Amino acid sequence: MENNGKKGIVLWFTGLSGAGKTTVADEIFNRLQELNLRCERLDGDVIRSNLNEDLDFSKEGRDRNVRIAGFVAKMLAEHGVVVLSSFISPYKEQRDKLREKIDCFAEVFVNAPLEVCEQRDVKGLYKKARSGEIKNFTGIDDPYEAPDNPEIVLNTHEEEIEESVNRIVSYLKSKELI
Ligand code: ADX
Repeated sequence: MENNGKKGIVLWFTGLSGAGKTTVADEIFNRLQELNLRCERLDGDVIRSNLNEDLDFSKEGRDRNVRIAGFVAKMLAEHGVVVLSSFISPYKEQRDKLREKIDCFAEVFVNAPLEVCEQRDVKGLYKKARSGEIKNFTGIDDPYEAPDNPEIVLNTHEEEIEESVNRIVSYLKSKELI
């Protein structure tokens, strides 16, 4: 089954906490729904609190979290869904494995500098990471490996959300996915 005759895709948003992955994905979700397209969101915080509650933020925990989410995303995309997956997914190797496994996959690097994410500190977690209350926080005392060749880069500190959304929609149109 396809999405109004179209193939599905996994848009994999990667970037630091606070870079804007969820915000942009939510806006794209709304836009696609207005167009009556089948889409679904998989979000790190939501998946971790409902499906992967048992996983921590060690490399093993993150890799498993990403692997499980990637598998769900792949299944949805195979049924014609445009999947918006937002995970820090800090390790290149793990993201490359997804690319290998998923037929239609686009890596979206949500690229905001650490200083900007830290200043936004929407969830107050950077403050806790700086004070040592939280350990292994991405960008502070845990690594983030930026993609080398992402299909799309969103510089959320320099462009409006609307612009980011338009760029993703244009990408989907150029690939004849919507
Ligand atoms: S991932 O590394 O496994 O891909 P994921 O995207 O699911 O991470 O979850 C990241 C979210 O978990 C962050 O946005 C933040 O709200 C929360 N979080 C809690 N502890 C950490 C931590 N040590 N590092 C990063 N994010 C954390």
